[in-house]
Amino acid sequence: MRPSAVAVALLSASRGCSAIALRGRPNTLLNTGTTPRSLLQNVVTWDEHSLFINGERLMIFSGEFHPFRLPVPSLWTDVLEKVKALGLNAVSIYIDWALLEGKPGEFRAEGVFDYDAFLSAAKQVGLYVITRPGPYINAEASGGGFPGWLQRVKGHLRTSDSDYLAATDNYASNIGKIIAKHQITNGGPVILYQPENEYSGAVGVTFPNADYMQYVEDQARKAGIVVPFVSNDASPGGHNAPGTGKGAVDIYGHDGYPLGFDCANPNTWPAGALPTNWHVTHESQSPSTPYTIPEFQGGSFDPWGGWGFDQCYELINHEQERVFYKNNYAAGVTILSLYMIFGGTNWGNLGHPGGYTSYDYAAPIKEDRTLTREKYSELKLEAQFLKVSPGYLTATPGNSSVTGVYSPSTSVSITPLIGTNGSFFVVRHTDYQSTESTSYTLNLPTSAGNIAIPQLRGSLTLGRRDSKIHVTDYPLGDYSLLYSTAEIFTWKKFEDRTVLIVYGGPSEQHELAVKSSAKRWKADSGLTVAAKNGSIVVNWQTTTERRIFQVDDLQVYIVDRNSAYNYWVPDISASSSVIVNGGYLIRSASVSKATLSLRGDFNGTSTIELIGVPKGVSSLTLNGAVLPHVKNAQGNWESTVRYAKPALPIPELAKLDWKYVDSLPEIKAGYDDSRWVTADHKTSNNTVQPLRTPTSLFASDYGFHTGALLYRGHFTASGSEKSLYISTQGGSAFGSSVWLNDTFLGSWTGTDASSAHNATYTLPNLAAGKPYVLTVLIDNMGLDENWVVGPDEMKHPRGILDYELTGSSDSAITWKITGNLGGEDYADKTRGPLNEGGLFVERQGYHLPDPPLRDFAPSGGPTSGLDKPGVAFYAAQLDLALPSETWDIPLSFVFENNTAKAGGAYRAWLYVNGFQFGRYVSNVGPQTVFPVPEGILNYKGSNWIGLAVWALESGGARVPGFTLQAANPVITGRDKVQVVDAPRWQVRRGAY
Ligand SMILES: *[C@@H]1O[C@H](CO)[C@@H](O)[C@H](O)[C@H]1NC(C)=O
Ligand SMILES: *[C@@H]1O[C@H](CO)[C@@H](O)[C@H](O)[C@H]1NC(C)=O
Repeated sequence: MRPSAVAVALLSASRGCSAIALRGRPNTLLNTGTTPRSLLQNVVTWDEHSLFINGERLMIFSGEFHPFRLPVPSLWTDVLEKVKALGLNAVSIYIDWALLEGKPGEFRAEGVFDYDAFLSAAKQVGLYVITRPGPYINAEASGGGFPGWLQRVKGHLRTSDSDYLAATDNYASNIGKIIAKHQITNGGPVILYQPENEYSGAVGVTFPNADYMQYVEDQARKAGIVVPFVSNDASPGGHNAPGTGKGAVDIYGHDGYPLGFDCANPNTWPAGALPTNWHVTHESQSPSTPYTIPEFQGGSFDPWGGWGFDQCYELINHEQERVFYKNNYAAGVTILSLYMIFGGTNWGNLGHPGGYTSYDYAAPIKEDRTLTREKYSELKLEAQFLKVSPGYLTATPGNSSVTGVYSPSTSVSITPLIGTNGSFFVVRHTDYQSTESTSYTLNLPTSAGNIAIPQLRGSLTLGRRDSKIHVTDYPLGDYSLLYSTAEIFTWKKFEDRTVLIVYGGPSEQHELAVKSSAKRWKADSGLTVAAKNGSIVVNWQTTTERRIFQVDDLQVYIVDRNSAYNYWVPDISASSSVIVNGGYLIRSASVSKATLSLRGDFNGTSTIELIGVPKGVSSLTLNGAVLPHVKNAQGNWESTVRYAKPALPIPELAKLDWKYVDSLPEIKAGYDDSRWVTADHKTSNNTVQPLRTPTSLFASDYGFHTGALLYRGHFTASGSEKSLYISTQGGSAFGSSVWLNDTFLGSWTGTDASSAHNATYTLPNLAAGKPYVLTVLIDNMGLDENWVVGPDEMKHPRGILDYELTGSSDSAITWKITGNLGGEDYADKTRGPLNEGGLFVERQGYHLPDPPLRDFAPSGGPTSGLDKPGVAFYAAQLDLALPSETWDIPLSFVFENNTAKAGGAYRAWLYVNGFQFGRYVSNVGPQTVFPVPEGILNYKGSNWIGLAVWALESGGARVPGFTLQAANPVITGRDKVQVVDAPRWQVRRGAY
C-alpha cells in the first residue's frame, strides 16, 4: 500500500464517519456467539479468538510475497522455505491483473506467471496461502494492478459502473478458478481469500458501495471460492465488517503502517504513532471474528529520488519489530501478515511511478534473498514463541495504556493478556519512542498470588526501543512456568526431556520460576537458584555464555538474544521437531529410517548442535551428504560444517565484446514510420484528462501502456514557426526529449516531484512549404495507482497532453505513435505485456538473447557513450561458470554514480536475457545496484546483456562505470535453480 497525502486526509475523515456509523449498529452484533455465519465449507472456521483449521485453533502468522516480483519459479521455493524457517505458517500474495490480461479477453498465467505452480510450491513447503487477486491491488504496481486498457473504460473504476465491472469478469473468473483449485478444501494451501483491496475511501462517488463489493465477492464464489473472505481496510474504519449487510466479508481486518515511510529520517520515530486502541476498536467493529491485521508494516517503499532501502531499513528495523509487532500481540492479533516479508524486483516495468526497480521494501528477506538483516532473526524469535504459545490465542487483552498496575514504574506500560493457559504481559516504554534504558520491577498476578519480581535480586531493564513479553502460569508440556521475565524462544517436549530456550538482551537481569517441589536441581555457574512457595526461582544476569538449569527432565537453556538468533526449529512431522543451534539457515529436517536429514545454508564455517534428535536415529546428512557428528555433554549432537569460499570468476563487463546499435533511427532523414499507428482518435474515453489536442495523443488510447513512448508529428512549415510548446506526462521522474528532424530541440531530464512537464523550445528557421517531422521520446514510468475510489487516478494518461506550434495551427500536425510492438497484441508472451517498451531496439527484439549482430557495430560498450543526445543500445554476451549447484551467489549489476564522468543526464534500461531488470535515472536516483537472480542469469552458460542508454543533454552522456558484482556466496540446500525458458531473438515480422 501507499497512501498519498490526499488519501491520508481522506482516511482520517472516513475514520470519523465510521465512528458515527458504529454507534448506530445493532446490539446483536456486539455479543455474537462463536458460531460463524453459514459457511460453504467446514475446514476453515473461526470464533472471536482465532481461526481453526480442521478444528485446530491456530495463529495465522504470514508474510506478503509477490511471485510476480521474482520471475524465477524455481526460486519461489527458496523464499517460501526462508519464510517457513522463521516459524511463520502462511504467505499472503497479491496477483497482478495487468500482467495476466494485457489484452482484453486474453488471460495468460503460464511460465513466470504460473500461479498454479506457485500454489503447488507453497503446499509442498507447507505454508498456507492468503490470496489477494484484486482485481485492484495497489501494491506499488503499475496502475495498482489494473491493465492500461482500463483507461479507456468510461465508468468509475472500483465502483459498480457496468463497463468497469464487465472489464473485470474475464480476469476474475480465470484467476478465481486457479485459486479455487488450490483451496484447502481440495487439498491445497489456500485458506483465505481477500476480495478487493483497501476499499476504504472515496471522493465524489457512493462509498462504501455495497453492490460493488458484493459483485467482487460473487465473482469469486462463481469461480468456486469457498474459503472465508477477509478484508483489509486501510485503517480501522469498520468497512464491510461482518454484519454491515451486502458486501460484508466473513472476517474483518485492517492494515497498519504506523511508523510511516519517512526514510529521510530513519532515526526518528514520529510521536503518537503507536496504536494503543486497536483491541478496543476491534471489539466494537468486529467482535465475533479473530482480530486480523492482513498487512502490517514489514518495511517501507521508497520513491524515485528517495534514500535507498538500506536507509529505510534503519527506520523499519528489528527495533520496530520489537515495539510495534509486540504492540499488535498486546492487542490480541491472531491473523497477522507482514507487508513485505520479501519484496523482490519491479522488473519489466511492472512498478508504478512512485517506485524504482528495486522493491526490496527493507523487508526481513532482502531483494537478493539474503538473510543478513537483524530483523529476520528478531522476527524468528517472535514467531517461534507464538507458535509454541497456544494460550496466547484465547488470552484476553486488557488496557494497553495503563501504568502503575503491573509495575510500580510509570516509565513502562504493561498490557496484560490474561488467559487460562498462560498469561502474557507486554512491556514497553510508556514513551515508546524512548532510546533510554529503563529499570523496572514487576508485580504480576500468578496462581501463587501476586508476586513482586525479581524475587531474588536486582531489577529488570528495558533497553532502547524495546518491548518484551513476560509470561505467567505458562505451560511447558508436563511442566509449567510460574513466570519468566526472560523471553521464550521455544520449548519442546522430546522423548527423554523437555527443553525450554529463553533469552534476554545484553547484560540484562532476568528471573524465571518453574513450578516444582523438587529438592534437587542442576544449575550452571552464574545462576542464582532458590526454592520459594512451590516453585524454583532462577535469577541471572545475561552473558554471551549459554547456561543450563535442570530440574527433573526439564532443561532450561539460558542464552543472550544474539545467541538465540542462531537457533532454528524445523518440524520433522506435524508433531515433532528438532532444535538446531547454528547455521545461516535451516530449511527443513526429515527422518527416514535411522537418518536425520537437514537442508540448510551456511555463510561461514559453523558448528551446529542438534537438540532433540529422535530415538533410533543414528546418522545425519546435510544437503544430501553424510555429516559426521559427536555427542556433547548435554547429549546433543554436534557437527562442523566447513566453508571454503569458492573461486568466483566474475567477468569484467568492460572487457566484454560489446556491440552497438543506434536506437533512435527515428530522427534520421528518410525514416519510414508508415507502419506506426496513426494517432487519429478525435475523442477519448479518458475521463480524467480533457483532450486539448485535435486528436488524442494519450498512449493508452492506442494500446501502449508500458515503457518508452515515441511520437512522430508531421507538418508542412508555414515558415513563420518560432517555437514549440509541448506538455508531456510520464509519471514521477519521467523524462522527455524532442527533435525537429535530426535537430535536438531539448529535453526534460526529470525530477521525482514532476509527473508532467511543460516546455517551450525555440525552433530554427523553417522553410515555408517544406515537410518537417517532430520526434518526441517520453519515458512512461508506469501508470498511477488508484488508491482512492472516484478520482480514477489510474487513468492519468501518458504521452503528449498538449502542444502548440507558433505560427501554425495545431491541426497542421499529423501524429503517429508507437510504444511496444503490437501494443496489447504484445510480441513477447513469455516475458509478459509490460516488459518491452517502444524503443527501436525493443520493437525489433534486439534486447533478447542472440540478437542479429550483422545489424550491430563493434563498440567500446556503455562507458564509451554518446557525444550528443540520443539513444544507444549496447549488447554483449556474458559467459558465466559459477559453482551454483551448492552455492547461492547473489549477483548485481552496478552503475557508477559519477555525474562529472557521465557528462550529462542519462537514463538506462538494463536487459538480462531479454528481461528488463533495471531502470536507472542518473540525475534522480537513488538506485545504482541492480540485483538479478540466478535463473534470469544462467550461471553455467552464456547470457546476453543489453543496456539502452538515453542521453538527454546536448553534450551526450556515457555510463561512468558498469560492473557485475557478487555478494558473499552461501553454501545452500535449496533446490537447483532452473534457468527460465524464454525465447531468443528471431526476426519480428512487421517490426519497424
Ligand atoms: C469508449 O467507451 C465505450 C463505453 O464504455 C466503449 O463502448 C468504447 O469502445 C470505448 N472506446 C474506446 C476507443 O475504447
Ligand atoms: C552470516 O550471516 C549472519 C546472520 O545472517 C551474519 O550476521 C554474518 O555477518 C554473516 N557472515 C558473513 C561472513 O557474511
